[in-house]
Amino acid sequence: MSKDVLVIGGAGMLRKACLEYAQQRNRVFVIARRKSKKLALLKRESMSFSACIFAMESDYNDYSAFLETLVSIPPSLHLVISWIHSSSALSHLQIIQTLRPQHYFRLLGSSDLEHLKRSLRESFCCPLTQTYQIVLGHIKEKTEQRWLTHDEISYGVINAVKKRSSLSIIGSIDQIPKP
Ligand SMILES: NC(=O)c1ccc[n+]([C@@H]2O[C@H](COP(=O)([O-])OP(=O)(O)OC[C@H]3O[C@@H](n4cnc5c(N)ncnc54)[C@H](OP(=O)(O)O)[C@@H]3O)[C@@H](O)[C@H]2O)c1
Repeated sequence: MSKDVLVIGGAGMLRKACLEYAQQRNRVFVIARRKSKKLALLKRESMSFSACIFAMESDYNDYSAFLETLVSIPPSLHLVISWIHSSSALSHLQIIQTLRPQHYFRLLGSSDLEHLKRSLRESFCCPLTQTYQIVLGHIKEKTEQRWLTHDEISYGVINAVKKRSSLSIIGSIDQIPKP
């Protein structure tokens, strides 16, 4: 059955995840900050298999304009995947309260463990929404470590959404955060 999915920051490293959800015949809403070649390309690619991607430009740091964008999206979505920088934490609350999604997955970079611990303790106070955290780690290769590729991030997110654990880590991080 077709479901509604919203991906914040979907024109970058989550591009493949957006395409995958669209290919599964879901309606996918993608928010990026501005009109860009990446966003146009995403829309074009989805059209090649007649999928539904609705690309929207809106800055989540501009709360009132962002709210206008959110209210144009059908509420009670099935899934939201959110790549929002830690300095804009209030946007998560804004999305959850406006759209009341069933499942809300928040992506976090591995660079700020203190922020990770705090965000694991945070309650979004919305009984209708189940919230989850996905941490982007790194890949260890012999003596070196590297960042995740965009494909590793996208497919890692898709797997994390399938598993629905409260905390998923893509790749590895040196310390597992505790709430
Ligand atoms: N641990 C890790 O492995 C790890 C962790 C974090 C990041 N990274 C790497 O860092 C690279 C860069 O990351 P990135 O943050 O630039 O991610 P990205 O996914 O490449 O791009 C960010 C996405 O979020 C959107 N966005 C950014 N600020 C926004 C705002 N204020 N309002 C609405 N949308 C906004 C962008 O839209 P626009 O295109 O319109 O700006 C774009 O769609 C990635 O390539 C990733 O591989 C790695």
